[in-house]
Amino acid sequence: MTLSGKNALVTGSDQGIGQAIALEMAREGAGVVVNYRANREGAEETCSQIRQMGRKAAVIQADVGQVAESKRLVRESAAALNGLDILVNNAGIEKRAPFLEVTEEDYQALLDVNLTGPFFLSQSFAQFLKDAGRPGRIINISSVHEELPFPHFAPYCVSKGGLKMMMRDLAIELASCGITVNNIAPGAIETPINRHLMSDPKLLAPLLKNIPLGRIGQPEDVARVAAFLASSGADYITGATIVVDGGLLWNYSEQ
Ligand code: BGC
Repeated sequence: MTLSGKNALVTGSDQGIGQAIALEMAREGAGVVVNYRANREGAEETCSQIRQMGRKAAVIQADVGQVAESKRLVRESAAALNGLDILVNNAGIEKRAPFLEVTEEDYQALLDVNLTGPFFLSQSFAQFLKDAGRPGRIINISSVHEELPFPHFAPYCVSKGGLKMMMRDLAIELASCGITVNNIAPGAIETPINRHLMSDPKLLAPLLKNIPLGRIGQPEDVARVAAFLASSGADYITGATIVVDGGLLWNYSEQ
């Protein structure tokens, strides 16, 4: 086990990629705070699976889109597990809309959760580590759309592009505190965020044609990479994005 004795806070771990990361980190020995905004049942399910593995776990409700709640979340997480070593900024939302129809309200809600949340969670977490004199890991679940345009998802792309530069900047600023900062950029993963895709063969078929490895990713494909980035095997990695997309991002061919 590579994470024995470590504690992780995984935002949005009531479902999807966050849930898989929470479980994988626990499998590797970590104690885990399971965070959710609205899906208490999902969070309790993640938590009980972690406890069945014999690890420490706590469920903490917080809307990471609100800065005061992010700060409380870090404080309560550190108290619940008696220390924190790993922050996974996973919680995220997306909404399809043509650029000309994006409302200020939707734009703001998305940026709050996808970018402002990770920013201030990272700030509180780094402050906690600095005060405690311990090293740590920040892992952001970004997207291939931190690089790749995604028409009709402009605010989502803005948030993920921002997350990329946040990661690069913090990697440098926090290196002297022994904190590494990296992104994982998933491609199309089978999770609730793209339920619409999975249930519509007309949308799914062209997407699959774009994925050289020929399949949609599973949450566990991402979770294993997150556990690696949190482990000592990744000691010398900071400021990097690891793309987990079956080859989708750089796929180009002419028929
Ligand atoms: C989005 C999915 C999309 C995938 C590939 C992800 O970031 O959340 O909706 O299918 O990127 O485009």
